[in-house]
Amino acid sequence: MLIHGPAFTALDVNHIQALRDCLVLVDDHGWIRRVLTSNDQDFNQVLTLGRQKQQVRELTAGEYLLPGFIDLHVHAPQWAQAGLALDRPLEDWLNKYTFPLEAKFSNLTFARQVYRSFVHTLLAHGTTTAMMFGTIHLKSNLELVEQCRQQGFRGFIGQVAMDNPDQSPTYYRDQSSVAAIKASESFIQQVQKTAGADDLVTPVITPRFVPSCTAPTLAGLGRLAAKYDLPIQSHVSESNWESQYAIDHFGMHDANVLDYFGLLTNRAVMAHGTQLTAADMKLLRQRHASLAHCPISNVYFGNGVLPVHYLLQNHNQVGLGSDISGGYSPSLYPNIRQAVKSSRMLEDGVDSRQAVTERGVKNSRITIVNAFYMATVGGAQALHLKSGQLKAGYRADFQIVKAHHSFIPLSSLDAFERILYQTTAADIRSVYVNGHLVYEN
Ligand code: GUN
Ligand code: FE
Repeated sequence: MLIHGPAFTALDVNHIQALRDCLVLVDDHGWIRRVLTSNDQDFNQVLTLGRQKQQVRELTAGEYLLPGFIDLHVHAPQWAQAGLALDRPLEDWLNKYTFPLEAKFSNLTFARQVYRSFVHTLLAHGTTTAMMFGTIHLKSNLELVEQCRQQGFRGFIGQVAMDNPDQSPTYYRDQSSVAAIKASESFIQQVQKTAGADDLVTPVITPRFVPSCTAPTLAGLGRLAAKYDLPIQSHVSESNWESQYAIDHFGMHDANVLDYFGLLTNRAVMAHGTQLTAADMKLLRQRHASLAHCPISNVYFGNGVLPVHYLLQNHNQVGLGSDISGGYSPSLYPNIRQAVKSSRMLEDGVDSRQAVTERGVKNSRITIVNAFYMATVGGAQALHLKSGQLKAGYRADFQIVKAHHSFIPLSSLDAFERILYQTTAADIRSVYVNGHLVYEN
C-alpha cells in the first residue's frame, strides 16, 4: 500500500516536518518501509509502479496525512457519562456518578454496547491507540479487548484494581487484596492466551489511584508488573484532595507511594500530575516514567495547571490524554487546543487585580507544535511503541484529514496550525492502523 500527498509529522518537541508531496510505502505487516519525497531519485518510478498496480491512495485537494493520535489516558466505561457532572469536585463526582456507572459494567450486554461505540468514536476522531481503564469486571474488560481487536484499534487495557473499603463503595470494589490481584493476573493471562501474532492489545497493571488501593494490593500489583514485564497506569497528584490523601495515609507524596511499591517504572503512565512538586517530577524522570497530560479534565478536577513547558524542558516524558469522562471530549484535537490555552493562562496569570509581573508563571506557554508532539511522539514513547511519526521502521498508524477551505494563501506551518485548531470528526476522512483501513467517513 502507498499513500501519496502532503503530510505533517513531528521531528522533535519543537519542530514539525511539512512534507508537501510525499509517498509513504507500507509493507504487508503494517510497518512504514519508506517515506519518499520528490527529491528521491526513484520517487516517480515508485509512484508510477504503484499506480499501475492500483496500490496508491491518492490524497485529494485539501487532504493531509498525519500520524494517528495516541490517547494516553482514558476511562472506556465513562464514555456513557461523558459531559456529565463536571461541576462537582473529584471525590464527589467519583461517588455520585462514576462508581455507580462503572458498577453497571457487571452487565456484559451493556458493556458491549458502550465499548463498541467508544472504540468506534476514538477512531472517528483520528485516535489510533489508547491506554484505557476498564472496570473491576473481568468479562467486560475482555469485551473491550475484543472490540479493539475487531475494530482494528491499538489498545492498552487495564483491569481496574480498587479494594480500599474506605474509599470504594460496597457495590463497586474488589472483595479483598487477594481477589484484586488475582483478577488482574487472570485478565493478563486471558489477554495473552487469546492474542494473535503481533496483537493489537496489551494488558496493563491498573491500580485506580492511591486512595482506592490498600498497601497489599499496591505491593501485589508491583510484583505482577515485574513478573509479566507490563505497562502500568494510574493517577498521580491529580487534585488537592487526592495529593493530601496520600500524605495523610502514607506520610509521603503519592509518587513516592507508587515508587515504593514498584509501580513507577519506565513503562508507567501516570495521569494528571497537576500537584507534583519539582522533586516528584525529578523522581518520574529518574524512573523514566511518563505523564499523561489531560488538560480539559484538569480544568475541572486538577486545582491547577500542569507546567508542561517546565516538564518538557527538563526532559520529563509527557503525552496527552482525553481522560473521558473527567474530560468531556473523546478527541485529542480539543485537548491539544486546551493544552496550549491553559499554558497561556498559566504564563499570563488570571487575576488582573495583581501586578502584571506577579500574576503568572514566566516561560510557561507551549506551542501548538509542542502539543502535537505530545499527542503523537510523546504518547508513542510512553508506550514504547514505534509509532506517532511518519518514518521508516514505524507503525503505519495514520489519519487523513481534510483541511478547511482557505481564502488566502497559507504557508505549510499556517496550514498545520489551522488543521489542529479547526479539525472536527467530520473532517477526518480515513484512519489506518497497522496499514489497515479501519475507519472511513
Ligand atoms: N481518580 C480516580 N479515579 C478517577 C477517574 O475515574 N477519573 C479521574 N479523572 N480521576 C480519577
Ligand atoms: Fe482518569
